[in-house]
Amino acid sequence: MSEKDPVVSAETHSWWEQVKASFKTPLGMIGVGITTVFFVLSVLGLIAHTAGMVKNPYAAIITVFLFPVGMLFGLLLIPVAVFMGRRKMFAGSLTKEGFTINLGNALHRKVILLFLVLTVVNISLFATVTSEGYRFMDTPAFCGLVCHTAMAPEYTAHERSPHANVACVECHIGPGIGGFLKAKFSGLRQLKGVLTGDYNRPVPTPVAELPPAALTCEKCHSQEKYFGDIKKTFVKFSNENQEKPEIQNIMLHLGGRDPVTDSIKGIHWHAGHGIRIDYQPLNDKRTKIGTVKVTRADGTLKVFMTGAKGQDSTLPWRRMDCTDCHNRPTHIFDDLAAKVDAGLASKKIHPEIPGIRQDSLTVLQKRYGSREKAASEIVRDLKTLQEKRNGADFAAKNDKAIADSGAFLQQAYLENIWPAMKVTWGTYKSQIGHQQAEAGYGCFRCHDEEHATKSGETITQDCGLCHKEPE
Ligand code: HEC
Ligand code: HEC
Ligand code: HEC
Ligand code: HEC
Ligand code: HEC
Repeated sequence: MSEKDPVVSAETHSWWEQVKASFKTPLGMIGVGITTVFFVLSVLGLIAHTAGMVKNPYAAIITVFLFPVGMLFGLLLIPVAVFMGRRKMFAGSLTKEGFTINLGNALHRKVILLFLVLTVVNISLFATVTSEGYRFMDTPAFCGLVCHTAMAPEYTAHERSPHANVACVECHIGPGIGGFLKAKFSGLRQLKGVLTGDYNRPVPTPVAELPPAALTCEKCHSQEKYFGDIKKTFVKFSNENQEKPEIQNIMLHLGGRDPVTDSIKGIHWHAGHGIRIDYQPLNDKRTKIGTVKVTRADGTLKVFMTGAKGQDSTLPWRRMDCTDCHNRPTHIFDDLAAKVDAGLASKKIHPEIPGIRQDSLTVLQKRYGSREKAASEIVRDLKTLQEKRNGADFAAKNDKAIADSGAFLQQAYLENIWPAMKVTWGTYKSQIGHQQAEAGYGCFRCHDEEHATKSGETITQDCGLCHKEPE
């Protein structure tokens, strides 16, 4: 059959013409138009995105989500238009029987080839852009900035922490498809919360769905690392003495598995090495701990309880891991007094100005209502306090030193306080050590001499257990 065959060519003509006609309905044209525009935008967006030119996360969302979705929408309109015009298509000489594809026909071949090429191009582009979108969803910029207000405290703290280069998903999402799906489902719920403004302020902690440390922390930090003793220095000033600090050096028995003696000892004894500690929290915050069970590598079990029978709790048992001590490995918020003292020690707060420690504490505890207001008023407020305390002459003479000190306080405020999220000094406390013991945080939740076995052995608070007596 040649193309010149009059019957076939009339049929062919009407076949293609009719399909084309259905494209040319307003709906079909809109479909083609939308597809073309978003195709071009997707290509440009992808180039800009991979070249790292898209810095703003909202712009990134548009380039890697909105553009390809727009393209898909346009593409879908085309078959819809053809479908809606199907009656017209068969109104002329074309019959349903004549609507066959004939590979011997050059025009048919061309149309099919065009269709295949366009499909491959569209699918490749769509796949590339969506995988870029998927990758982008794993970046801290997405997690931290998209839910702008809700995640701002955690994002900011993460950015200035030792884990700044570790993506949120490394700690918050377990590996594999299970972890991914779980995260996306709770992500959708959270997104709904963020969109409707219906979420907790501050974001509650501990995180109920945090994967076990074996799947996160231990991917990078081996349990087998031996630390031995490490020295930590604590520098404290007082309002009475802001020039000479009290310095405490403590040697922490961090331990782990000693590679020479192969014994497991010290603070890192709890985590791994065949030792298993399970405990039953008495409240959601885990600030009160009930029964504690220790299973050693040789299978021996020790049960520590408070009171003769232990306390009842309906909360699920928890297996102790790294995050029961390292609950703030990356969202590290400062302690108010420690931050001011660090300012004095580094002389960013000028220690020679009388009363500056107390005034700093006052300014940092003032309720500004918003971060913007705090940023614009902290330096002025410090000056006002200093004028009252030391007189206008003194304040004028030391204007620069007071302004510099104020600048440090302003930064300290912006790193720690989010009024809109109800995050302030002490909202998120650390479990390391016992500085927050009164609030129920830290080692003394178990090491309180009250958790005891039937034979009267306690989880000890003997100072020498964890560190040498402070010098
Ligand atoms: C090094 C591991 C790690 C990384 C990286 C990390 N987090 Fe966390 N995150 C934690 C731990 C541990 C907690 C506290 C868990 C607990 O107490 O149960 C936490 C808690 C949170 C909380 C609950 C509120 C709070 O402060 O306790 C939010 C929200 C959060 N993270 C968001 C993020 C975001 C957003 C990022 C990325 C910008 C991120 N996290 C990166 C480990 C991490
Ligand atoms: C993707 C790898 C990775 C993951 C996951 C990870 N860390 Fe880290 N962690 C690091 C790196 C890198 C450092 C910095 C090491 C350095 O500079 O010495 C670090 C540092 C630390 C430090 C020392 C901080 C300091 O003040 O110097 C602690 C403690 C720590 N990580 C605990 C954790 C805990 C707990 C988790 C799980 C919640 C975790 N890490 C998850 C890579 C990781
Ligand atoms: C019983 C509490 C506890 C547990 C459990 C624990 N740690 Fe620690 N870890 C500490 C303390 C205390 C320090 C000392 C640093 C400090 O005081 O800030 C420390 C320090 C570290 C450091 C930094 C050491 C340095 O040189 O500064 C790393 C890294 C670390 N831990 C990782 C882990 C990992 C990974 C796990 C889980 C396998 C874990 N820790 C479990 C209490 C604990
Ligand atoms: C969930 C309860 C719990 C918490 C929280 C806890 N511990 Fe322990 N710790 C135990 C138990 C149980 C033992 C073992 C007691 C025994 O068998 O005599 C222990 C033993 C120890 C030992 C001795 C290990 C050895 O044999 O050399 C050290 C050191 C220690 N803990 C330090 C800490 C430090 C530091 C913290 C806080 C950062 C802390 N613990 C938090 C339950 C806890
Ligand atoms: C269960 C382990 C443990 C026991 C028991 C313990 N400490 Fe500590 N202590 C720690 C850890 C861990 C730190 C480091 C905290 C940090 O890194 O912020 C610390 C820090 C300190 C500091 C410096 C922190 C500060 O803000 O001053 C002092 C002082 C101190 N301990 C005194 C004591 C005394 C006194 C005792 C005995 C009653 C004792 N500790 C018992 C684990 C323990």
